[in-house]
Amino acid sequence: MKTTFALGITLFALNMPSTVFSQDAAQGEVMFKQACATCHSLTTEQGSLLGPALHGVTKRPGRTDAWLTQWISDPQGMIGKKDPLAIKLLNQYNKVPMTNMLQALKGGDKTKIMKATKDILAFLKLNDAKTPKKGKMKRKKKG
Ligand code: HEC
Repeated sequence: MKTTFALGITLFALNMPSTVFSQDAAQGEVMFKQACATCHSLTTEQGSLLGPALHGVTKRPGRTDAWLTQWISDPQGMIGKKDPLAIKLLNQYNKVPMTNMLQALKGGDKTKIMKATKDILAFLKLNDAKTPKKGKMKRKKKG
């Protein structure tokens, strides 16, 4: 009985890889549901919606914190600057540009946009920390 209990606690702890940024991440989750979930799923099973599935996105090549921060806070700006990765993604996703939801939701307030971006990034990292082992992950084939 006692062993089972201890094991349960350990497994629970392992499932919560980062309590450090949990507060930001919690706010990021709320924001994500509001601003991003219509176009982005968070699991590979669900696959791509209008935009790419974001499971594992913080570990994809070229997606540094700086890149993700710029992209989430100002996707159109990145396209405008002809950022190579941004252009590649745009072409890959049928040239449907990602709407700048934060711009609209935060009334253009740069400080609030950056805070929301930071929270969402913390949330995406937490989501990626739960990424299953590579062999189990399958990216949906593009048709
Ligand atoms: C209207 C649909 C839509 C909304 C809303 C949206 N996105 Fe996107 N997103 C896209 C599309 C489409 C792409 C692919 C690039 C392109 O077409 O511009 C993309 C790309 C991305 C990428 C890059 C994925 C990769 O593989 O590197 C990230 C990260 C991302 N979005 C995060 C977000 C976040 C965070 C939000 C909410 C603040 C959000 N998106 C809201 C449609 C959307």
